[in-house]
Amino acid sequence: MVILKLPDEIEKLRTGNLIVAEILGQLRERVRPGVTTRELDELSEALCRKKRVKPAFKGYRGYPFALCASVNKEVVHGMPSDRPLLPGDIVSLDFGVNYKGYFGDAAITVPVGTVTAETQRLLRVTEESLYDGIEEARVGNRLGDVSAAVQRRVEDAGFSVVRDYVGHGIGRSMHEDPQIPNYGMRGRGIELRSGMVLAIEPMVNEGSWHVKVLPDGWTVVTEDGKLSAHFEHSVAITENGPDILSRIR
Ligand code: MF3
Ligand code: CO
Repeated sequence: MVILKLPDEIEKLRTGNLIVAEILGQLRERVRPGVTTRELDELSEALCRKKRVKPAFKGYRGYPFALCASVNKEVVHGMPSDRPLLPGDIVSLDFGVNYKGYFGDAAITVPVGTVTAETQRLLRVTEESLYDGIEEARVGNRLGDVSAAVQRRVEDAGFSVVRDYVGHGIGRSMHEDPQIPNYGMRGRGIELRSGMVLAIEPMVNEGSWHVKVLPDGWTVVTEDGKLSAHFEHSVAITENGPDILSRIR
């Protein structure tokens, strides 16, 4: 069941998502060779305390950190560690908060130092696929229009979309209906309505879409060991078009 949000609920979701966007911006500024993802996790917690919000992921199904930090072949749910980031790495930072009972959720992938042109292309295409999906998040469109737009951008570029993990509705729970695959067919799926809030989050692999979960029970990695990127925004569907709640201003 998809829960429609009232205007005052969308404003709470906006506040929480803006805090997520600000914190992601500050984490991004900190990314450089030598920094550890544990330091980024600690910074994210400190910023939550300062803004008086709760990190959404910590304790979620037993997840032990505030931040998901997925390096290189790690797709999502990477756990912060003491391994310093190296020049040429990419790191996906996925972060969420609970603000007055409403969730914010967004993700960015950040290059560490100088990365290859092909790696830059992976990041650019993944972010573009997110914006292509958002562009379709309009009253009267169908969910499949969002999914198909993401998939098309990714596959036209020669990359692949992860099948096993999807975007989601967001509100008083971090994960609500509908599930939002990053592949699908135009014209299929539920009709989009004003008041829906969707977390659209393409996970894009340089090689094949196949992934596996490491024995830690969390870290999702590409099966072929090639790179993966992830961008996510929480977006309200309004009569005036898509409203990106988690946009870094
Ligand atoms: N941001 C992720 C999502 O969109 C949630 C991270 S899973 C957690 O589904 F367990 F780390 F919270
Ligand atoms: Co999400």
